[in-house]
Amino acid sequence: MANRMILNETSYHGSGAVQNVVVEAQRRGFKKALVVTDKDLVKFKVAEKVTALLEQANLDYVLFDEVKANPSVDIIKKGVETFKQAGADYLIAIGGGSPIDSAKAIGIIINNPEFADVLSLEGVAPTKNKCVPIIAVTTTAGTAAEVTINYVITDEAKKRKFVCVDVNDIPVVAVVDPDMMSSMPKGLTAATGMDALTHAIEGYITKAAWELTDALHLKAIEMISRSLRGAVENTPEGRAGMALGQYVAGMGFSNVGLGVVHSMAHPLSAYYDTPHGIANAVLLPYVMDFNKDFTGEKYREIARAMGVQGVDQMTPEAYCNAAVNAVKQLAKDVGIPEKLSAIGVQEADLPALSVDAFNDVCTGGNPRDCTAEEILDVYKIAF
Ligand SMILES: NC(=O)c1ccc[n+]([C@@H]2O[C@H](COP(=O)([O-])OP(=O)(O)OC[C@H]3O[C@@H](n4cnc5c(N)ncnc54)[C@H](O)[C@@H]3O)[C@@H](O)[C@H]2O)c1
Ligand SMILES: [Fe+2]
Repeated sequence: MANRMILNETSYHGSGAVQNVVVEAQRRGFKKALVVTDKDLVKFKVAEKVTALLEQANLDYVLFDEVKANPSVDIIKKGVETFKQAGADYLIAIGGGSPIDSAKAIGIIINNPEFADVLSLEGVAPTKNKCVPIIAVTTTAGTAAEVTINYVITDEAKKRKFVCVDVNDIPVVAVVDPDMMSSMPKGLTAATGMDALTHAIEGYITKAAWELTDALHLKAIEMISRSLRGAVENTPEGRAGMALGQYVAGMGFSNVGLGVVHSMAHPLSAYYDTPHGIANAVLLPYVMDFNKDFTGEKYREIARAMGVQGVDQMTPEAYCNAAVNAVKQLAKDVGIPEKLSAIGVQEADLPALSVDAFNDVCTGGNPRDCTAEEILDVYKIAF
């Protein structure tokens, strides 16, 4: 079987990369942007780092700052209306996964109006046209939404998050500038960084993984585990390592899929509005333990990439434990709680959560096939 890779047309990395928003908008002849972001990013003057450049260059734009974390169907519909009223011809997304995912859904619906109900985009949507061009400026170091072909929307009426996978939605330009991330508070840096580590680990062991994505995911695991503690302390090296590490993970997992950590995390955000990264971070070591006998030698390489010494002398049991413990230690060092009970999950909800997790699009990629009952057992252990 042939393997497929889809990446941005152009991406910019490193301090000062944000200047290239103007370069790309001018080079591509874009006329008017809908800038998709959220109110906190306006308040903390993060969005302004981009809009000030647009103003200096006389590039016209309209601001849509109504995105909320875990964006809902209604927000997408509002964004579509605002895009039309503005007479915009491209999108600039400024934010973490929530604004970038919102921009993807808006851009897809503008050019594929038969999906205007949003809900019909769930899963692999058969859209025919590429979405409106997106320049994605990421402000968190986690989701890698700027380089993925996925987006996640919340159906508030049914209390569920759904994943949309669509090759037509990838931003044409990604801007990954660590200076856009320096204002993240410690907790957000830790949560989004653990999301990135989860992408790298789940992408590395997922069923569709192959040599090229293995190289990306192992490099990402190494960069993230080396950089996350520093990023939480806001060091320039830590921020730079996380900005690139999360992007490299995205280059991989977007093309091969994830696993049950994400399946189990999605319902937690839908039920309790749990930040996506926190949900992943708490669940990751428990799911790694559940999967360990279905991953060949890969946990040895995960342990090595995370800096564990002496892995070549270890038995399978020892290197599996070493990999899980390295993840637990990193999570602990950046302040992530160990149990679901500590992040507001209700024990009585666990059976319903397991059904939703089992039906999540990420479940098929898990290296170990599992039933809803087995997922329930993992939730119980993690509780
Ligand atoms: N598209 C994908 O492939 C993909 C992958 C994983 C997750 N997701 C989705 O992405 C969403 C989560 O995205 P996220 O974790 O990046 O967070 P987010 O976009 O939801 O933002 C969370 C909060 O952080 C604030 N924030 C963001 N950047 C900041 C900065 N630089 N300084 C100060 N505050 C800042 C925002 O204003 C917001 O209040 C979820 O809906 C998740 O399901 C998408
Ligand atoms: Fe994620």
